[in-house]
Amino acid sequence: MTTTSTVYWRSGAAGAVSAKELQEAADLLRSGGTVAFPTETVYGLGADARSTAAVESVFQAKGRPSDNPLIVHIADERQLEGLAASLTETERGLMKSFWPGPLTLVLPVLPDAVSPRVTAGLDTVAVRMPDHPLALALIREAGCPVAAPSANRSGRPSPTAASHVLEDLAGRIGGVLDGGATGVGLESTVVEAVGERSVRILRPGGVTPEQLRAAGYAVEFDAGADIEAFGQPASGSAVSETAASQPTAPRSPGMKYAHYAPRGEMTLVSGSAEAVRAYIQAEADAASALGLRTGVLAYEETAASYRADAVLACGSLGKLESAARSLYAVLREFDELGAERIWAEACPSDGIGLALLNRLAKAAGGRQVDAG
Ligand code: TXA
Ligand code: MG
Repeated sequence: MTTTSTVYWRSGAAGAVSAKELQEAADLLRSGGTVAFPTETVYGLGADARSTAAVESVFQAKGRPSDNPLIVHIADERQLEGLAASLTETERGLMKSFWPGPLTLVLPVLPDAVSPRVTAGLDTVAVRMPDHPLALALIREAGCPVAAPSANRSGRPSPTAASHVLEDLAGRIGGVLDGGATGVGLESTVVEAVGERSVRILRPGGVTPEQLRAAGYAVEFDAGADIEAFGQPASGSAVSETAASQPTAPRSPGMKYAHYAPRGEMTLVSGSAEAVRAYIQAEADAASALGLRTGVLAYEETAASYRADAVLACGSLGKLESAARSLYAVLREFDELGAERIWAEACPSDGIGLALLNRLAKAAGGRQVDAG
């Protein structure tokens, strides 16, 4: 891939970039370039979803497997008319309740609406309307549907600050709009409507199952959503049925890849608070004795009880939203501190905790221990 210089637009004191800068970023998108921008979840790397060449540059910059489709971002429900075939009442209701916001809907795609590189050849397209003024302004100004995966190198933790984007992608993308730290800190929830007022979660994220239920939707989980281990009911038979009929293919293709990983080898540890603490400390001491640099991912309530080279508090157990917000920055910090072995305390699985556990498990690449 050719190296370019990446334009950096910083937001002003009021938190907004100037109209001229926004225009520049939108022009770059319209002319087939790649622009990273903040959303309420994580930073996205945007390209004109209709242009195969532009979308190809996104895959190139990220080093992303080509069978992993992209989410298309819109600023206005009218943009849907050119993208998705007829919508059901359930789909319309979900949009009304959760857009703009961290809910991505998988919808039947209209022929030729977007580049086949966006959908990876599926007959569906994933669409969301981000709840971030800069993202909405950029999409509006560009006047096209914007395909945008998270703006990280494939496999790395998603970016929750413009500095993370530059760490991974400087010289590989056209530009980055700096809108400060993102709010939710984890990606959107990817769902498909599976019947009247009923949804299947393909990837847990910023909109929680509790929020979907409270809005009147029955919730089931795709086998690929990787949440079975976290004590979530399998909502009827959805998980097992899907697992039986499609043993290896999650409905959301991205779920099968290793993700979000720090460079050190991470293990996710669950169990009672005391057992978790004792297990992690013993493992860290043993690794230290072997001369390895150790890391512990804990919470504000528990961090003080550990001895290791890097003990990082990932927000508060009493407020898991704060943990979600800081997770990816904490994973990157372990890299900066050179941690070679990391143990992460599991968190409760309610609310945003479900998505948090899912990302921790992915970052641990399947290394999970129940300490009892
Ligand atoms: O919050 C987010 O969703 C962020 C911001 C930038 O919007 N974007 C994001 O994109 O997380 P990405 O590419 O990292 O993840 C997209 C997920 C993948 O798991 C992918 O497989 C799934 O959405 N996906 C995309 N199109 C799909 C489709 N047609 N059917 C099922 N899953 C799809
Ligand atoms: Mg991603």
